[in-house]
Amino acid sequence: MMKMKKGILLILLTLCLAVEISNGDESEKAVVVKTVKGKKICTKGWECPTPSKFCCNETISDYFQAYQFENFFSKRNTPVAHAVGFWDYQGFITATIKYQPLGFGTTGTKQDKMKEISAFLAHVGCKTSCGYGVATGGPLAWGLCFNREMSPSQSYCDDSYKYTYPCAPGAEYYGRGAIPIYWNYNYGATGEALKVDLLNHPEYIEQNATLAFEAAIWRWMTPIKKSQPSAHDIFVGNWKPTKNDTLSKRGPTFGTTMNILYGDSVCGQGDIDAMNNIVSHYLYYLDLLGVGREEAGPHDDLTCAEQQAFNPSTPPASSSS
Ligand SMILES: *[C@@H]1O[C@H](CO)[C@@H](O)[C@H](O)[C@H]1NC(C)=O
Ligand SMILES: *[C@@H]1O[C@H](CO)[C@@H](O)[C@H](O)[C@H]1NC(C)=O
Ligand SMILES: *[C@@H]1O[C@H](CO)[C@@H](O)[C@H](O)[C@H]1NC(C)=O
Repeated sequence: MMKMKKGILLILLTLCLAVEISNGDESEKAVVVKTVKGKKICTKGWECPTPSKFCCNETISDYFQAYQFENFFSKRNTPVAHAVGFWDYQGFITATIKYQPLGFGTTGTKQDKMKEISAFLAHVGCKTSCGYGVATGGPLAWGLCFNREMSPSQSYCDDSYKYTYPCAPGAEYYGRGAIPIYWNYNYGATGEALKVDLLNHPEYIEQNATLAFEAAIWRWMTPIKKSQPSAHDIFVGNWKPTKNDTLSKRGPTFGTTMNILYGDSVCGQGDIDAMNNIVSHYLYYLDLLGVGREEAGPHDDLTCAEQQAFNPSTPPASSSS
């Protein structure tokens, strides 16, 4: 009798343990809902840990999984690529944790969310691509081929920032990252925001994929000037164009995200490759996610060929080059 009971107990215990473990996996991403002043806010496990309305529905890993990341960047680990083994899905998702509670990839409907991830990664894929016309798999399959500029022609130290972002002796501020960072002042500002000393250690960006993605998402989420919208705000419709914007042909569109990020190096120059390549990546990723390129909207929403730049490049007075 006693022996029998012990046996059953043991079995029961084992069963409970098994249930707990599988629940443990599930509850890691379970939504925890609170209501604050009549508004619903949530957390969602490790992926969306800060209470926010944006954590209540799908989070990024619900609709963008490792195999989709592999599809987007299928050639990045082939031997001829230049950052083999560097970029991975885990690094990307980890980098989003700070920004999902702010609406990155978590705003609107599931399709809206998929579109934002496609749009953001289109910038990344294009800016890190080593694809060319006849590359195997096509030119769009080569995103995340680089994590740094290969043959910098200068060290990108602008001495006019010597009081705010002084160049560290020996440091090189060439392009690095997922949306590449150039110049001491950009490393300085990004480092301040991420609380990492990038001014003295710009190399961290090419040593840490999570940090590289974090810097790029920060750039997407943050206005370049206080009076301006972020690329995120433009894309998800948080920004209302002024009359001036409308006159400058800047709407709440994918095209305008290129304007805010790159200004007249990409926009207002007609149908140039530098612009069309970014657009092609966006459409390609929409197809890969099963959203379909037709959901990108009309051509006018994709282009910035006729837009005036938010931040026109004026020759910097103290440029050394
Ligand atoms: C989450 O989903 C609910 C129900 O579908 C919806 O009413 C709400 O607006 C969504 N929240 C966000 C932030 O998208
Ligand atoms: C990489 O960067 C992330 C994000 O800033 C940080 O949490 C992590 O500790 C870094 N990893 C290493 C090995 O320094
Ligand atoms: C609108 O554009 C005009 C001409 O470029 C400029 O002088 C004016 O300051 C702009 N207004 C705003 C609110 O930006």
